Amino acid sequence: MQRYFPQGIATDSSFCNREKERVALKNSIEMHEHIVLVAPRRYGKTSLITQVLKENDCSGTHIDFFFALTQAEVSKTITEGISKIISTLLPKTRSAATRLIDSIIALNPKLTFNLLGQKLEISTKQTTEKSISELLLALDHFADKTKKSCVVVFDEFQQIGELKENHAVEAAIRHAVERSQHVSYIFCGSKRHLLNEMFSDKSRPLYHLCDLMTVDRIESSCYHDFLNKMAKAKWKKLLNNDAINEIIHLTENHPYYVNALCRRLWRHDDITTISDVRNTWHDYVSQQSIWIANDLSNLTLNRRKVITGLAYEPTNEPQGQAFSIKVGLNPSGIKKCLVDLQKLDMIYLNKNGYYCVLDPAVAYFIRQHSLIF
Ligand SMILES: Nc1ncnc2c1ncn2[C@@H]1O[C@H](COP(=O)(O)OP(=O)(O)O)[C@@H](O)[C@H]1O
Ligand SMILES: [Mg+2]
Repeated sequence: MQRYFPQGIATDSSFCNREKERVALKNSIEMHEHIVLVAPRRYGKTSLITQVLKENDCSGTHIDFFFALTQAEVSKTITEGISKIISTLLPKTRSAATRLIDSIIALNPKLTFNLLGQKLEISTKQTTEKSISELLLALDHFADKTKKSCVVVFDEFQQIGELKENHAVEAAIRHAVERSQHVSYIFCGSKRHLLNEMFSDKSRPLYHLCDLMTVDRIESSCYHDFLNKMAKAKWKKLLNNDAINEIIHLTENHPYYVNALCRRLWRHDDITTISDVRNTWHDYVSQQSIWIANDLSNLTLNRRKVITGLAYEPTNEPQGQAFSIKVGLNPSGIKKCLVDLQKLDMIYLNKNGYYCVLDPAVAYFIRQHSLIF
């Protein structure tokens, strides 16, 4: 069965657009330049990277620090990721693989063979920071020996900045990244302010190590064509423009929500109409309402007033009189809430300078339930 709108990573025919980002990322990988890729959760960072690696036939490893809360866990996560990529770069014959393994002898490689193929285990005897450098440098060395370049993706990288020993770990990573000639690094993350501190504060080890790339929402015109392509694949006809516009309007071009809504719409035998779109979105948000209400109830009253104001109407003058009167707070109180809500990833400043609620389901829920305005 064709997966039109996946819940997880989107690639190939379910991948929409991102032309500019795909070219930029491909060029950086080819030049062995390193990138910091920043976007809120569920905007499509992993999908974009996966698609680029796939279409350019690049070897890569995805190392996710989401669950790495201590330095030891970071080191373990990196060890697993590096052993995985080295395994995929290894030649398939036992003798050639064994010969190459000698070039990473410092990592105590153990290569085992079974019916499913070969499996590599590595470990280092160094202290944690040294072992991180050693692992990453060994990968570069290995890539050199095999004459294959590769990509290391560090996901949820801001987590490193939250460690007690963040300076030492960041310095170890910089040491290896700067010396790597065959490995490109993509530092990916969803907390913009934390990543900003890590890469643009002069006192931090990773200062100016990479170029910054941001991933935005997908443009309406791209979704227009994409949704019609998917409608043709499913129903053999184009969607009514009103239905498409309503999908884009309700989901606010947020890739995760476009997929969540369309996945439901595309289950039907009959082509989607504007009222299907409205009803399905309403039911979907209702199903999420316990979680949304919980997130909102964790906010202070002032933050809730500000997010409610923005859910009704995004503003480019949040400290202006109109918004101040609307939410019943003075400009300095509003400013503080805006900073806090941005850090919590609940609001964002869009390209046109308007503050908006980040999650379209939260915005819709507030408009449905709020009695404040
Ligand atoms: N370019 C795209 N085309 C179609 N769907 C996408 C695209 N990018 C992301 N998605 C969808 O959005 C959701 C979040 O994508 P994901 O790559 O996991 O985001 P992130 O890594 O930023 O959290 C998934 O449902 C995915 O299928
Ligand atoms: Mg991701």
